[in-house]
Amino acid sequence: MADESYGAYEGYEDSERVRLNQLAEARDPRTRRVLDRIGLSYGWRCWEVGAGAGSVSAWLGRRVGPEGAVWSTDLDLQFHRPVLPNVAVEQHDVARDPAPRAAFDLVHTRAVLQHVPERDQVIETLWAAVAPGGWLVVEDGAFQAFSEQPLPEPYATVHRAMATGATAEWRDPNFGVRLPGRFRDLGAEDIDITGEVWAMRSGEPGGEWWFLAMERAIPRIVQAGLVTAEEGQTALAQVRAPGFVMMSSLSIAVWGRKPAK
Ligand SMILES: C[S@@+](CC[C@H](N)C(=O)[O-])C[C@H]1O[C@@H](n2cnc3c(N)ncnc32)[C@H](O)[C@@H]1O
Repeated sequence: MADESYGAYEGYEDSERVRLNQLAEARDPRTRRVLDRIGLSYGWRCWEVGAGAGSVSAWLGRRVGPEGAVWSTDLDLQFHRPVLPNVAVEQHDVARDPAPRAAFDLVHTRAVLQHVPERDQVIETLWAAVAPGGWLVVEDGAFQAFSEQPLPEPYATVHRAMATGATAEWRDPNFGVRLPGRFRDLGAEDIDITGEVWAMRSGEPGGEWWFLAMERAIPRIVQAGLVTAEEGQTALAQVRAPGFVMMSSLSIAVWGRKPAK
């Protein structure tokens, strides 16, 4: 993920590849359930926005078959896995680069818009890219309850700094909660919503997507004076301790259909 706020360091690429794969492993089952529910079918034209490791794009490519097509885009393609020939992988900034209009049966994005400062315009770009009768599916987080859950210090301070976006001002940690209203404003039909939380533990995909990001965020949180370097190390040891478990953020999926005419 292109996230300068966490800074590159030796081993960053390996850590980020692992982190994106953990995120994919934790989140893919729900994504597949939602896409099955809307009737994803052979021959569909799909756009996967901010594809990350590309696991959803690879799955979409298999599901839509050779008659279908997937456009798999991200700002940063270095972690994208190899995919079938019906998946076109392209570097694309969804906030700045041109996008096709009325071209896709499905536009899907997950855990991306909360990172994009221009998210309100971007969601309109995504909606414009959906063909009449097609679907927009957006999955994003809501971090309020996640951030406020009781946790031991000093991890609690590190956690709240990350979860409230204190280390990266451009982030909207509660964009998931705003999604239903955005879909109403767009004039989507057949809007539906689901949400999920899960247990986060060290060594499991459901926890590592966050704990690996935290390892990278700690130097900045220390630099900001929120914790000392020693407390940062204690916080890491706390989440890595056997038996430690906490509640995940709320992952919200919202989907709606563009009127056929
Ligand atoms: C948290 S990762 C999520 C990856 C993937 N969607 C998933 O859920 O497994 C966020 C992704 O959004 C991408 N991204 C951030 N800003 C973007 C932009 N303006 N245009 C396209 N991709 C962007 C990042 O490079 C990163 O791959």
